[in-house]
Amino acid sequence: MKKVIKELKPYVPEKTLDEMKSELGLSKLVRLSANENPYGTSKTVKDAVVNWAYSQSNRYPDSDATELRQLICQKFDLDPKQIVFGVGLDEVIVMLSRVFLEPGDVELISSPTFSEYALHAEIEEAKVEKVPVLANGGIDFSGMLQAITPKTKLVWICNPNNPTATFETVDDIENFVKQVPKETLVLIDEAYIDFVTEKNPSAMDLTKKYSNIVVMRTFSKAYGLANFRVGYAVFSKEVAEQVQKTRLPYNVNSVAQVAATAAFKDQAFVADVVEKNAVEREKLQKFFDKVGFKYYQSQANFIFFQYEDASGLAQYLLENGYLIRTGLLPNWLRITVGTSEDNQTIIKLIEKYLG
Ligand SMILES: Cc1ncc(COP(=O)(O)O)c(C=O)c1O
Repeated sequence: MKKVIKELKPYVPEKTLDEMKSELGLSKLVRLSANENPYGTSKTVKDAVVNWAYSQSNRYPDSDATELRQLICQKFDLDPKQIVFGVGLDEVIVMLSRVFLEPGDVELISSPTFSEYALHAEIEEAKVEKVPVLANGGIDFSGMLQAITPKTKLVWICNPNNPTATFETVDDIENFVKQVPKETLVLIDEAYIDFVTEKNPSAMDLTKKYSNIVVMRTFSKAYGLANFRVGYAVFSKEVAEQVQKTRLPYNVNSVAQVAATAAFKDQAFVADVVEKNAVEREKLQKFFDKVGFKYYQSQANFIFFQYEDASGLAQYLLENGYLIRTGLLPNWLRITVGTSEDNQTIIKLIEKYLG
C-alpha cells in the first residue's frame, strides 16, 4: 500500500439522520451542516425518475449523458466537447487531481477552503500550499500569485468559497488568471454559484478564452439532487479530451442523468430556491449583526460565523434538533441557511442560549 494512504486522514461524511436521531434520542433532527437544499427537489424530477424505463436496467447508461450535455451547452453556449461529467463534483476533483498532479508537484489553495482539494492532492503525493484568506474572508489573489512557482500545477478557487461563503467577481478572477502562467491550471469550483445574488457571477465564459481555466458545477446544491451524484467540469476542448480518457465510461447512471435533466429543465424551481435562500440568509446575517457574532458576508446557502463557545453552541443546537458544522476553524461554525421556519427556531434557540 502507498505510504501516503496509511497516513491519510479521511474525509468524514455525514452520518445518516436516522443514525444520529437514534444516537441522540431525538424525534426530529434538521441537518444544517452539509449545505443541502432545504426545499427538496423539483417535482418534475420525481415524475422523470418514476417514469424511467426500468426495462433498461440491464443496459449500460449513455456514457456521454447526451441529453443533459446538450441542455447545459445550450444554456451556457458551450461546445459539447468541453464538458466532463462526474459522480458529483467529488469525482471530478478526484479526476483532476489524478490527471494533473504528479508526486512532488504543488497544488495551491486558499485557506480555509473545501477539504477535498488537499485530500486528493495528498493521495497523488503532491504538496499542498495554503494562502490564508483576507480579513473579509475573500481570496488573497496577490498572495496566491506570489506563491505560484513552476512547480505549481493546480490552483483552486472555490467561488463562493466553502466555508467562508464569500464571493469573487469574474473581473477579479480574470485579472488573476491573466497573471497565472499558462502551464498552471486554475480550477474554479462553482458548486454554490447559483446562490449568488450579484449580477453575472459565473466564470463559465472564461473557459472559451483561456485554456488553463476549468469551471465546475454540481446538481447537489441549488438543484436539490445531492443524492443522485451529478457534477461536471467545463474545460477548453483540448484539455477536456485528455481528462475524458480517465473518466470511468459509465460513471453517471441513467437514473441520475434523467433526474439531472429534469432538474435542469425546471429553472423556475432553482430561481425559487435561490430567492428564498437570499431572504433567509439576510435574516440570519441581520440576527448575527444584532447579537454581535462575527461572520463573512455570504453569497452562498450557508454562513460561516465566529463565536467564542462554538462547540457549546453547536451542542445546544444539536440537542434541540439542529445539526450545524463544527471543526472547520477553532471557534467558527458553519450553518446552512434553512427554511423560514427553521431559521426562526434557530434564532430563538440562539437567543435563549445567549440569555
Ligand atoms: C465547494 C464544494 N465543491 C464540491 C462539493 C462536492 O459536491 P458534490 O455533491 O457534487 O460531490 C462540495 C460539497 O459540499 C462543496 O462544498
